[in-house]
Amino acid sequence: MRFPSDLSSKLPQSGRSIFSVMTELANRHDAINLAQGFPDFPPSSAIMKLVDEGMKKGYNQYAPMPGLPALREIIAEKTERTYGAKYDPDKEITVVPGATFGIYAAITALVKEGDEVIVIEPAYDCYIPAIELNGGKAVRVEMKYPDYQVDWGEVTKCINFKTRMIIINTPHNPTGSLLSSESMKRLARLVNGTDIIILSDEVYEHIIFDDVRHESAARYHDLAERSVVVSSFGKTYHTTGWKMGYLLAPENITVELRKVYQYMVFSATSPMQYAYAEILKRPETYLELSAFYQAKRDTFRDALQSSPFDVMPCGGSYFQLLGYDRITDEGDRDFAARITEEFGVASIPISAFYRMKTDNKVLRFCFAKQESTLLKAAEILCRI
Ligand SMILES: Cc1ncc(COP(=O)(O)O)c(C=O)c1O
Repeated sequence: MRFPSDLSSKLPQSGRSIFSVMTELANRHDAINLAQGFPDFPPSSAIMKLVDEGMKKGYNQYAPMPGLPALREIIAEKTERTYGAKYDPDKEITVVPGATFGIYAAITALVKEGDEVIVIEPAYDCYIPAIELNGGKAVRVEMKYPDYQVDWGEVTKCINFKTRMIIINTPHNPTGSLLSSESMKRLARLVNGTDIIILSDEVYEHIIFDDVRHESAARYHDLAERSVVVSSFGKTYHTTGWKMGYLLAPENITVELRKVYQYMVFSATSPMQYAYAEILKRPETYLELSAFYQAKRDTFRDALQSSPFDVMPCGGSYFQLLGYDRITDEGDRDFAARITEEFGVASIPISAFYRMKTDNKVLRFCFAKQESTLLKAAEILCRI
């Protein structure tokens, strides 16, 4: 007899992630991998030296549960400087091993059995499983194709007495769309007088283009007092593999987050925290990031001008959407697989970011890559 005899899944809907599927396909066909969202260039030597320095200075044992005090203090300074928002480093800032972890901890701490959470789709893939593992129900609202703007009227219709949380994401993965100041104010009015918490995923806060301002929930007092703001150092410092980020939340919410967090991991890696605390003393290291990625976005878009794809708008993040309904009516999964196998460029089909697999014939390409990689990929895509 095999044990355990009852291994019914807690996540029956989840299979292998599309990121693993496409990366494996890319490797098998020796294709350029613009599927998974990570840089193909190294982090700065300055930050790598700082990790080494941290280890030599003795940052090798458990960090304090909410994060190194020096790191939390400099995060508070950065947040005040960039968004004009004051967060108490002792009571309102928690360092976590990556944004995914922070999101899971926040949902686990705040969503109870039977609660409803509004998720705007297409959505980053970790939100709905985290809600469901905690007994919550994900209520999905689709952004309208092709503009990918949030329909606040639809969100309003979904709010009821069970609504515990609304998850927003700006700049947005996978669409590169942004929430405007108008949207943030509309959201604040919408939740006014309710107990709804906002989980604001802002991991691409420093990757925003054309001189547009990032509308952090932290900027809006009415939102900040009910929000958990999620950030990721992996995106900002080209260090996705170091898995480090932080959560900003008012004290009453942070108390609950930390209760859960301490049992999930207790604390995040020490020498990396030392390195980020030091590098954040140089604001240019994050303030110059938008220009750095805007140049890559423009290189990729310019090189695609003669391609048969529709190059869709990209206001932030490091993802470019390409519509292909002028090329074929194949489903997006099939088409993404085919261009990986036959042409040698891997992407992610956007239907993977919808529970109901909505397919508008759009693929996501990551441009956090060296210029030569982007030009080569674009040249191939122009030949399709
Ligand atoms: C929207 C969004 N949220 C969260 C994350 C996770 O960030 P981390 O690598 O810090 O866990 C990602 C990473 O791709 C993302 O795109």
